Amino acid sequence: MENIALENRVFNPPADIAAHANAKADIYEWAKKDRLGFWDAHAKDMITWFKPYDKVLDDSNAPFFKWFTGGKVNVCYNCVDRHAKSERRNKAAIMYESEIGRQVVLTYGMLYREVNKFANVLASLGVKKGDRVALYMPMIPEAAIAMLACTRVGAPHSLVFGGFSPESLRDRVNDCGAKVLITADGNFRRGNPFPLKNNAEKAMEDTPTIEKCIVVKNAGNEVEMKEGRDVWYHELMAEAKAYYEPEEMDAEDMLFILYTSGTTGKPKGVVHTTGGYLLQTQATLKYVFDIKESDVYWCTADIGWITGHSYVIYGPLALGTTTFMYDGTIDYPDKDRMWDMAERYGVTKFYTAPTAIRTWMKWGTQYPQKHDLSGIKVLGSVGEPINPEAWMWYRENIGSGVAPIMDTWWQTETGAHMITPLPGITPLKPGTATNAFPGVEVDIVDENGEPAEVGYLVVKSAWPSMIRTIYGDDDRYVDQYWKRFGKFYFAGDGAKRDELGYIWVTGRVDDVLNVSGHRLGTAEVESALVECAEVAEAAVVGKKHDVKGESVCAFVILKDGFKGSDELVTKLKKHVGVKIGPIARPDDIIFTGGLPKTRSGKIMRRLLRDIAEGRAIGDVTTLADPGAMQEIASKYSGKED
Ligand code: WT7
Repeated sequence: MENIALENRVFNPPADIAAHANAKADIYEWAKKDRLGFWDAHAKDMITWFKPYDKVLDDSNAPFFKWFTGGKVNVCYNCVDRHAKSERRNKAAIMYESEIGRQVVLTYGMLYREVNKFANVLASLGVKKGDRVALYMPMIPEAAIAMLACTRVGAPHSLVFGGFSPESLRDRVNDCGAKVLITADGNFRRGNPFPLKNNAEKAMEDTPTIEKCIVVKNAGNEVEMKEGRDVWYHELMAEAKAYYEPEEMDAEDMLFILYTSGTTGKPKGVVHTTGGYLLQTQATLKYVFDIKESDVYWCTADIGWITGHSYVIYGPLALGTTTFMYDGTIDYPDKDRMWDMAERYGVTKFYTAPTAIRTWMKWGTQYPQKHDLSGIKVLGSVGEPINPEAWMWYRENIGSGVAPIMDTWWQTETGAHMITPLPGITPLKPGTATNAFPGVEVDIVDENGEPAEVGYLVVKSAWPSMIRTIYGDDDRYVDQYWKRFGKFYFAGDGAKRDELGYIWVTGRVDDVLNVSGHRLGTAEVESALVECAEVAEAAVVGKKHDVKGESVCAFVILKDGFKGSDELVTKLKKHVGVKIGPIARPDDIIFTGGLPKTRSGKIMRRLLRDIAEGRAIGDVTTLADPGAMQEIASKYSGKED
């Protein structure tokens, strides 16, 4: 065993999990034989419908697929009411801890009361079915309440990650035309309040559709409240009525919009709808994390990302699970904060990202070793390929050497897990997401769409929680995902298959970066850079980074009369951070006289990546010399990337 490379080692499912797993041995066979029957049975079993659907899948207008047409349903009802009216009434729905140690536990009964009141608050401010509501919030229970209340009144929400800049918030609010913005005064970061409302204030200087801004008092910092527009959450809640009839939504009504980076400068508003999303988030969570009634489940993602939507809020609550939320930094007051909480709250299922695992690896095993983590039975990973070393560390140190790791591949667009092992069934190999989830059909194809061992990752048929369109831009939806291979959905990732038939996702093959598990378009960073007066042109690539996976590396051509300097590097880095958000801040800025381009004018990013990682041109220091880059440019010009 010792001399077998990590990625070739096989770990069989633990016997105790296999013996009682939610997923029965025949699950793959069943779904393979009758894919729609599989989803149909789960939709009947897992969703409480106000009115049954007529049809499981309507593919008559592909790629605008429709699931569960004719069905009437409400997500909030499924996540809250049905549990509050059952024996789960006094079970914890949400357990929350703030960075400074404030604890909140909301039972399903309590959550029911809060979401009903907040739905009334929204209605009293004029929010109706179909109106968009923007959220710019920390990881606080009020964020969950606001999301659920939106679904109760049938108003699609659009969350903007709290780490995004005022400009990013403004652009997203304006793209979806939100009527109301919900935010908080601030939240704590390393003991200091971070003024979220100030950012929202800046964004709202130019958001004509916003009529009201609801502010949650959370950090207690001073905020300015604009007369007639800004209202306090607690004041409205104190007056709100206790019941709001959940809106009967069509299965295909829009549930939410979530913006994600694409290959152009403009983020895409990914649209998810009601029935299919409610189904696949539940079904995947139930089988992938083998959710049992007594579980305490913790997904560390921020609610501003799809993982937070699907696996902190909707999946767990629809299943009647206890979901844990933490709002704070992972090393405050010390580097064992996460393990301290995992022990204190009795966490049994734990879901996080490779970048976090690599950070913990760097800090050392003494931190998890301080705590009893033996309660953790299943681990999950998402956001980027997990390197086998991090996989082993995770299993050994967080999973007591035995917990199986669910490496889940999926995207903002897929809404829920697509490629993943199942803990009681799948033998694991470190670094691979293994197989498609039952009822999901994926493949690897070559340039021509023919099956291949190495190539492009595609989804071959519709799945319930799929993206329905890009908000306001049906053409871009078709163009982006369906044009390349016709009838297959193209995910933007490359992949290869091993001798067990397992799929190894190798990363993006388009102009999209993955920084700490977060998606970032190269074009977004480039357009931020060229806004600076000194910059003539910019090309951005991802550079391998041992914690973040990739870091942002920018090649910059200056306008005549400007010279590269340390001050300018600092200024440009800062500008990108302010313009998009701290995650987009370049680690490296390299001034150059030219860029290698194809004949058609496309920047050859692969070559720049080679240069950034010190491969192609040997001595990287010569890069500062414009002549050297021009030489590369001319040497490679004409060859396609
Ligand atoms: C991209 C999607 C899905 C929630 C988090 C990110 C990469 C995600 C894996 C994985 C290899 C992964 C892909 C994908 N990715 N999970 N388990 N193995 N790569 O959502 O921002 O929409 O990004 O993240 O490149 O396309 P997202």
